[in-house]
Amino acid sequence: MQKYILALDQGTTSSRAIVFDHEGLPVASSQHEYPQHFPRPGWVEHDALDIWHSQLACAREALAQARIDASRVAAIGIANQRETTVLWDRATGEPVAPAIVWQDRRTADACDRLRAEGKADFIQGRTGLEVDAYFSATKLQWLLEHVPGARTRAERGELAFGTVDSWLVYRLCGRHVTDASNAGRTMLFNIHTLQWDEELLALFDIPAVLLPEVVASAEVVGLAAAEWFGRAIPIAGIAGDQQAATFGQACHRKGLVKNTYGTGCFMLMHAGATPPVSRNRLLSTVGWTVGGATDYLLEGSVFMGGATVQWLRDGLGIIKASADVEALATSVPDSGGVLLVPAFTGLGAPHWDPHARATIIGLSRGTTSAHIARAAVEAIAYQSAELLASMQKDADCAVTEIRADGGAARNDLLMQFQADLLGVPVVRPRVLETTALGAAYLAGLAVGFWESVEGIERQWQVEKRFEPAMDADRRAALMARWTRAVEHAKLWGA
Ligand code: G3P
Repeated sequence: MQKYILALDQGTTSSRAIVFDHEGLPVASSQHEYPQHFPRPGWVEHDALDIWHSQLACAREALAQARIDASRVAAIGIANQRETTVLWDRATGEPVAPAIVWQDRRTADACDRLRAEGKADFIQGRTGLEVDAYFSATKLQWLLEHVPGARTRAERGELAFGTVDSWLVYRLCGRHVTDASNAGRTMLFNIHTLQWDEELLALFDIPAVLLPEVVASAEVVGLAAAEWFGRAIPIAGIAGDQQAATFGQACHRKGLVKNTYGTGCFMLMHAGATPPVSRNRLLSTVGWTVGGATDYLLEGSVFMGGATVQWLRDGLGIIKASADVEALATSVPDSGGVLLVPAFTGLGAPHWDPHARATIIGLSRGTTSAHIARAAVEAIAYQSAELLASMQKDADCAVTEIRADGGAARNDLLMQFQADLLGVPVVRPRVLETTALGAAYLAGLAVGFWESVEGIERQWQVEKRFEPAMDADRRAALMARWTRAVEHAKLWGA
């Protein structure tokens, strides 16, 4: 009987589940948006139970839609929003506080203090990360300090910390684990030794007993209990969503680059078997551990990508659905001189300015919602162009194409403008759901559903290629104007 892989893609604004067949093609999928909480400016929270319930509901719906029961699922693979910090009670499995989302800036001052104390080089040396509120360490520290009784209970071993992968696996099968691609985003993990780092734990005052066990990205870690899907299913793949997308885009060899247009934008380049060192404010990160070998990636992270379009929908109300943005933006020939810098939650790479705030600049009496929509779409491309510029300076090999994925990669206007700004072709694969696909591949490799990484590589196919069509002078002029707009966003927060 034909078997399938069930991939769970737990993202920042929605949970998704996709059933993949042996050709790596999606046969059914389900998606649920779930509530975002913004209790104060700069704060972003999720209810970890919303994450769990929405993810479980999607998984069940996807299986129902595929008309298969759990006996035909060879394995479950999980890809997840990274860094988001969940703290729960080991006995009840209930969260003890709202999850602090990766976008949350509440610990920006704590990070400023660490930098002022001269800790940045030490932290970067061990973790490959910039000192920033983006990562889990200061979020966990904040929870231990602010949730009544949390520190004492943590020290007694009653609580568990995890990123969203850990949380889902714990709910599905009761084991407390994570993989190195997720552990590497906590700022508590040594990416060279692939272990929790005692000196970092001491620096952030985190009891080791809180932490999950680190497992491989492709390994059977347990069985999802029969109560969830009617029958137990092996959980065999775990990776942070951006690493999973890199795997799903078949960027398995040094120099291959993908950019995911999701809530944020995340450009990752395969960097080989040792952690890369960035001199241009990019991150060095674990890609995945498969078959005992660990691959590393160079990453540029932008906090607001597709979420900027969501803000047009929910904050400004100028579109009804995110997909409407392309029509509105193409209804004008250009942005009419308007630039939107979406520093709603500060700026990530290469600026790392948590205090910057979003700005719209260049408005005139003729400005319409269409110009703002176009500026929002273009902002996604400008930010990604900054990432590639840093990457090209860091890399010891030329970037010949960018593999694009994520929801906004469907937008042809964005893809063409992106290729124009980069001066590098942008390639859209046939399967755009590469995050879920990467998680599926990891799980499938662990259970022998797929034989080899080489076999997976052969499944990757191009749907459309966007060639750069802008001359270099125009590109440079546009980027210079963008840089000026970014300075305004930074000045506002200074
Ligand atoms: O680092 C944050 C990232 O993992 C979030 O991904 O897909 O929810 O935008 P996404």
